[in-house]
Amino acid sequence: MNVLAVDIGGTHVKILATGQKEPRRFPSGPELTPKDMVAGVKKLAQGWKYDAVSIGYPGPVIHGRVVSDPHNLGKGWVAFDFGKEFGKLDFLVHSVAFAPREELTGQFVNTTRKGFATALDVSAYSLIAVTRAAAPLMTDGGSVVTLTYLGSERVVPHYNVMGVAKAALESSVRYLAHDLGPKNIRVNAISAGPIRTLAARGVAGISKMVDHHREFAPLRHATEQSECGDTALFLLSSLGRGITGEVIYVDGGYHILGSLLSTE
Ligand SMILES: NC(=O)c1ccc[n+]([C@@H]2O[C@H](COP(=O)([O-])OP(=O)(O)OC[C@H]3O[C@@H](n4cnc5c(N)ncnc54)[C@H](O)[C@@H]3O)[C@@H](O)[C@H]2O)c1
Repeated sequence: MNVLAVDIGGTHVKILATGQKEPRRFPSGPELTPKDMVAGVKKLAQGWKYDAVSIGYPGPVIHGRVVSDPHNLGKGWVAFDFGKEFGKLDFLVHSVAFAPREELTGQFVNTTRKGFATALDVSAYSLIAVTRAAAPLMTDGGSVVTLTYLGSERVVPHYNVMGVAKAALESSVRYLAHDLGPKNIRVNAISAGPIRTLAARGVAGISKMVDHHREFAPLRHATEQSECGDTALFLLSSLGRGITGEVIYVDGGYHILGSLLSTE
């Protein structure tokens, strides 16, 4: 996460962002209002990428709100809503997963401690981390969507430790939904059928899984990326406003099957 640090104290407002070597500054003074400060910072930070803003304020702050106007600056700082002025976030799509390639072939029983930790860290903990960072910016509520797979609840050969990571991810979705629901932030997962993407090519036998899916899924076609995109759009928009903590399957109905005996 890139942070934009803003130092308001002293003769200048100074800013620096993650990855930048040289700080930038503009003059402060007894007329400087918080709106001037935000406008100045936004202008000065143009071209810098940042996901969060950290502000050093020369006075007491409680729960992110200034409680007394500073001596050397203008008026209007008390209770000023910096989060709102710097912009807000409406939704977040988490679409990250990784396990070392050697963990995605052979038997699950051979999973290494290191491979387990890496898979869970990148594929499940990352959702908690990014949601925690995004939530304070979702000042008007928000929606978080992540991507999961049936291997979380059924055994899919070679999916191995990723199945455990996806189980942790889906459980995290429920806990996050519970924590953030009162702020009107919804958290859901889309469980997609197998799609031959860069990441999926790391799973041994992915092509066979796609063919198998096309043959047996009730809708008789392989899952398409656009189908997942459409469902994400639904969940991220107000159309999904009553849904949180849910795992929605976009897999042509494959997960409902209890038998692979064809009736045709
Ligand atoms: N392709 C499928 O069959 C399928 C099915 C169900 C769910 N999913 C899930 O969809 C999501 C997206 O995967 P995809 O199949 O579109 O593949 P993808 O390769 O397009 O996306 C995976 C992304 O994870 C990122 N990533 C990996 N390790 C990372 C790390 N340490 N830090 C930051 N980013 C990292 C990669 O840069 C990549 O952008 C994943 O969560 C995947 O498990 C995929």
